[in-house]
Amino acid sequence: MQNKLFIKNKKLNTEILIKKNHISKFINDIVKNNEKVFCIIDSKIRKYLNYNKQKKIKIISIKCGEKVKTFDKYKYLTEKLIKTNVNRKSAIIAIGGGTLGDLVGFVSSTLLRGLDFYLIPTTLLSQVDSSIGGKNGINTSDGKNLLGTFHQPKKVLIDISVLNSLTKKEIRSGYVEIIKHALIKDYSFFCWLEENTKRLLNLDKSVLEKAIYKSIMIKLFYVIKDEKEFLLNNNSRAMLNFGHTIGHAIESHYNYKKFNHGEAIAIGMVTEAKISNYLGLLSNNELERIIKHFTKYKLKIFDKVLKNKILIRYLSKDKKNTLDNINFSLIDKIGSSIFYKKLNKNKVYKILKKI
Ligand SMILES: NC(=O)c1ccc[n+]([C@@H]2O[C@H](COP(=O)([O-])OP(=O)(O)OC[C@H]3O[C@@H](n4cnc5c(N)ncnc54)[C@H](O)[C@@H]3O)[C@@H](O)[C@H]2O)c1
Ligand SMILES: [Zn+2]
Repeated sequence: MQNKLFIKNKKLNTEILIKKNHISKFINDIVKNNEKVFCIIDSKIRKYLNYNKQKKIKIISIKCGEKVKTFDKYKYLTEKLIKTNVNRKSAIIAIGGGTLGDLVGFVSSTLLRGLDFYLIPTTLLSQVDSSIGGKNGINTSDGKNLLGTFHQPKKVLIDISVLNSLTKKEIRSGYVEIIKHALIKDYSFFCWLEENTKRLLNLDKSVLEKAIYKSIMIKLFYVIKDEKEFLLNNNSRAMLNFGHTIGHAIESHYNYKKFNHGEAIAIGMVTEAKISNYLGLLSNNELERIIKHFTKYKLKIFDKVLKNKILIRYLSKDKKNTLDNINFSLIDKIGSSIFYKKLNKNKVYKILKKI
């Protein structure tokens, strides 16, 4: 396995390092090359940083979770950085899960019209998904990630030694994005996961490293082809949204309280696999195989709101959709996804009632 990946083309320039026990060295290197460094860290994992006394480093710790992706926290953080004299030669480092990365990415891309930023993702979910590809954002009362930009981090450090403190629930949440990558793009990866999920959920090092690497490579495939999600075909970055059209609507409906991101997306993926099956794209056998895997590892597969018309309102607000039509990334086989354009929202409601 390579432990240094570069995303470099005309538009992208990010280095992704996969290295254990490397946080201090990573931060020290950034400190050497910048006038001032702002480390913004999830308060739950403050213990991973022992830099209080270094003059060049300013540490800001924030309580994280979906509620950090709000206007309020955006205001708080930008104003705090301005008051502590952030300037164009400063570097910003986010140390935390996907919610912190999304907030800090958005702050970095807008503050002083754009500052360099670095990510040290500390959840499995953020290591396999959200730290890669430069999307950021906050939520509004109408839905998820409705305010955001594309702003690539300069460097990302994936250090699996920080994952031991995660709860089982958070590990499972990250696993959901791994299985998503397999379902949309790589049949043999799915088969390998069927054999190795138990070890992965127990954080077996070698299984974890392979799963993280494979996941990142699949995500990069789409990011490099379609950074800003312009394509409307099977290579579109939108394929990575498999499970998310329904999943985001569920998260918004419950105001991010009932499920964490991975749980909502697990329900979304099974539901979108059922829609794929209903539309004649995915076979019964493959659908059953997916549901069996999810059930075996106690991933969520259903919630009662799926049968409630209220969900359709949230679907129409999703960035990818127009008022009446909903775009889905669906799967036609395990390991193969397709861009399914414009399913009428009333039809979606009817399908959801039947499946
Ligand atoms: N930008 C993207 O491309 C992208 C992709 C996928 C998901 N996302 C976003 O990512 C978010 C979900 O990310 P997440 O699952 O990392 O959520 P999170 O940031 O809320 O982290 C989950 C929980 O784990 C805690 N935590 C973080 N690191 C820890 C550690 N090492 N040990 C113990 N606890 C730790 C956090 O405090 C939090 O309670 C969602 O908002 C989702 O929309 C973004
Ligand atoms: Zn996701």
